[in-house]
Amino acid sequence: MSTGPVSAGPGSAGQLGTPVRLGTRPAHESHGVAASGAMPTVGPLVDTFGRVHSDLRISITDRCNLRCVYCMPEEGLSFLPKDDLLTFEQIARVARIARVLGVTSVRVTGGEPLVRHGVVDLVGRLAELGFEDLALTTNGTSLGHFAAPLAAAGLRRVNVSCDSLRPDRFASIRRRGDLARVLSSMDAAEAAGLQPIKVNVVLVADVNDDEILDFAAFARETGRIVRFIEYMPLDADGSWRREQVVPASAVLEQIGGRWPLEPVAAQEDDPAPATRYRFLDGSGEIGVVASVTQPFCGTCNRLRLTAEGAIRNCLFSDDELSTRDVLRAGGTDDEIAVLLRRAVWGKRAGHGMDEPDFLRPVRSMSMIGG
Ligand code: GTP
Ligand code: 5AD
Ligand code: SF4
Repeated sequence: MSTGPVSAGPGSAGQLGTPVRLGTRPAHESHGVAASGAMPTVGPLVDTFGRVHSDLRISITDRCNLRCVYCMPEEGLSFLPKDDLLTFEQIARVARIARVLGVTSVRVTGGEPLVRHGVVDLVGRLAELGFEDLALTTNGTSLGHFAAPLAAAGLRRVNVSCDSLRPDRFASIRRRGDLARVLSSMDAAEAAGLQPIKVNVVLVADVNDDEILDFAAFARETGRIVRFIEYMPLDADGSWRREQVVPASAVLEQIGGRWPLEPVAAQEDDPAPATRYRFLDGSGEIGVVASVTQPFCGTCNRLRLTAEGAIRNCLFSDDELSTRDVLRAGGTDDEIAVLLRRAVWGKRAGHGMDEPDFLRPVRSMSMIGG
């Protein structure tokens, strides 16, 4: 069966090196009523609400060397057998097809992506495809070791999780893990040129929300972009409660009361989940990811590939389509492209967390890829 180049439709030569050009729709156009027509077979990856998808998050493992309370259980999670994972060749193939369909930015995630053997090789393969942005989200534990080789392989930047600046608390939130090691891994990443470094802080009420100003000071001192993330109902323990969410508005009020902030105008082509703010005195930047209190689904441009090859159109949707089945059956690039299109076309308007019939997804964060 042919695995020849996928066709991206008019405006594209349908081959690698000539990806389809995108315009990102303004947010107000994406809230509308779903389109009633048929799924397009040409052009960019668009859903029924007009949202164009140009960002692919690729999870390369569901394993992790930590057990953060907001993500994994302490014991008893079973992991995918190695044979169930997409191979690097298969991942690179799906990424190549996605690029032809207009994906411009790729993020490698996990679990913890740096625990998968050969991750540098994979990053090199993805870099060769020529995405505008190639990033990786990590818990930082092994980043000190990997920063330089990853940069050499073509990685542009990293986001590092760090939920406390107090060693004991850091260890208890992550159940394993060492703050000093993660902080020094950020230094190594900077030295390797993986910049800007974004630091992800998942805030949980009465756990680490007394460190908001400490993290703001850290952002000011280091120039790293600290992002305060609202805790989402994706923890493996199923213990999430809405009262534990620290609203982004409270974070901004607290920080702005100490060091005045101003919004950083969103780039038209950057519908990222974090809303950005800079300190008025010029000392750095912070962000908030307000998935719970101010959902940004209306501008979502994201698609996910899970470690076993499922295309997932939303963190909160269990509707998945398997690229692995198509790949294993010897499917063509066009068949994979159709699968990507179907996944995007089937996307719902939003995560529905505020709807009375909201059900949390079956998979928890480490199995989806953040
Ligand atoms: P940048 O491109 O650097 O802004 O990365 P990012 O913030 O998109 O990625 P990262 O992996 O650092 O994720 C930060 C937080 O945003 C995590 O808690 C993710 O789960 C969350 N996040 C990422 N994408 C989505 C999304 O599509 N929906 C929601 N609700 N949260 C998301
Ligand atoms: N809610 C919000 N963010 C989460 N992350 C993991 N679990 C959750 C959750 N329940 C974050 C991690 C990491 C990113 C991939 O997702 O901190 O930075
Ligand atoms: Fe591991 Fe990341 Fe989940 Fe923490 S949030 S347990 S580091 S996958």
